[in-house]
Amino acid sequence: MLVELLLLVALFFLLWRFFKKTDGMPPGRWGLPLIGYIPLTRKRIHDQLFDLHKKYGDIYVWRFGTQVIVILHDYQLNKDAFASQDFIDRPPWNFFRYGEETASGVIASGGSLWHNNRRFVLRQLRDLGMGKSRMVAAVQWQGTQLVQQLKNQAGRPAPLPHALEVAIVNVIWQMVAGKQFEMSDSRLMELQNLLRWILESTVSVAIPDFFPWLLYILPGALSRRVFNLDRQKTTLHKFQKYFTKEIEEHRATLDRDNPRDLIDGYLMMMEEKADDPDNTFNAKDLAILVLDLFFAGSETTTITLTWMFYYLATYPEVQQKMQAEIDEVLPKGTLATLDDKLRMPYTEAVIHETLRKSSLAATGVQHVATRDTQLGGYYIPKGTVVIGAQETIHHDPRYWNRPDEFLPERWLDQQGKFTPKKEGFLPFGVGKRSCLGEALARMELFIISTTVFQSLTFSQPPGKRIDLHYNPKLFLTHHPKIQDVLITVRPGF
Ligand code: HEM
Repeated sequence: MLVELLLLVALFFLLWRFFKKTDGMPPGRWGLPLIGYIPLTRKRIHDQLFDLHKKYGDIYVWRFGTQVIVILHDYQLNKDAFASQDFIDRPPWNFFRYGEETASGVIASGGSLWHNNRRFVLRQLRDLGMGKSRMVAAVQWQGTQLVQQLKNQAGRPAPLPHALEVAIVNVIWQMVAGKQFEMSDSRLMELQNLLRWILESTVSVAIPDFFPWLLYILPGALSRRVFNLDRQKTTLHKFQKYFTKEIEEHRATLDRDNPRDLIDGYLMMMEEKADDPDNTFNAKDLAILVLDLFFAGSETTTITLTWMFYYLATYPEVQQKMQAEIDEVLPKGTLATLDDKLRMPYTEAVIHETLRKSSLAATGVQHVATRDTQLGGYYIPKGTVVIGAQETIHHDPRYWNRPDEFLPERWLDQQGKFTPKKEGFLPFGVGKRSCLGEALARMELFIISTTVFQSLTFSQPPGKRIDLHYNPKLFLTHHPKIQDVLITVRPGF
């Protein structure tokens, strides 16, 4: 018995030595070997980060399971870190790879594959008309379609309709696959249910990324079930099947002189680079890239618009001011173009305040240190995960006056001119890996919101309040709760 006890103590000592924090690393929560620090509290992550920030300052570490995470609360530190090549990659987590051996596409990939895909997508978005009149007309069209659907529920409290998701998906799908979904398309509903599952299963799928040793001690079938690993694979295969069919249809009808969309552009790149030994373009990667864009380009903007509808229903005085500006700049029957932005500072302010207050990507998207390096005066070993505390920064009194209030006026100067305040504002991330759909998202938010509020007013259902708390079921992103809202058609529309 004594021998076993001594062996256990020795083992614990060795583990402790092996997993001890290296000198020079930031202060913070370190916890036990293999387990790290698991908080025994029901406090929201944001509130915990708020406390940790107070205790440790602008940069600290939290070891969770086997993963060492460094959290940044200072805007400049975020800029420094994410502008650097040292933090360019994503962690090699299964959760990011959709269960595949290596990451493809653009959100989770690294190295030359990521670099080539990012450059390719940015060029495609530009060539396919981002900011140009063709694209503006397409977004206006989606906005007017949405207004028609919203009118159908005018006068009776109801949740926002599926039409909102369809309008946003159609903008990205038009660019990617040259098509739009019908409102009642059952395939779209299936794809969106799969996406929702991916979001809701984040925690279970990510557990083995943080506690990889669980996979060695639990029987294989059990761990695959508990952590939803089989379901993750099936979900990916369903997406791949759908997108591969789309890609094959494109291949069969490809006209090299008239590429229609991003899929055509990629197929032509594959042909062009076929003999290049460094070629990264391939059919399997294309299917994941399409999934990435479908995913990143739909949920994000839909949810941000949902937040805006809820905020304006809650703050009628803000909505009235925005509508007064719309009425002044856009005569009835005229829809906004990007040129109107300059003449609509209040609308710009509402959009920015919505992005700040909702903080959709609450802790950004994870990066990883690609080598042993330094940050903020601390040593950061290779493999350390680095995240920006976006939501906390968006509510930090150092950057924002009365941070908890929804106050579009904070974005306007004394003359009522919009001031694109940058310090402390990072809804799209910063640096080399920042959101590559930012310009598209901004365009959608501006055109669709002005189109909607031109003819409709949103309010809280009689006797009820809109609940502006984040949906606790989702861990990494801030979604609002699904709830009723009352829509009224404005006089004359
Ligand atoms: C309001 C809407 C949106 C928000 C708040 C948002 C936010 C973000 C954030 C925080 C990141 C991570 C940045 C980082 O890693 O540091 C990101 C990455 C990304 N976003 Fe967005 N996004 C939005 C809309 C879009 C749209 C419309 C697209 C469609 C093209 C898109 C495509 C992407 C892609 C592909 C990445 C990965 C970039 C990379 O890893 O290189 N996003 N987004």
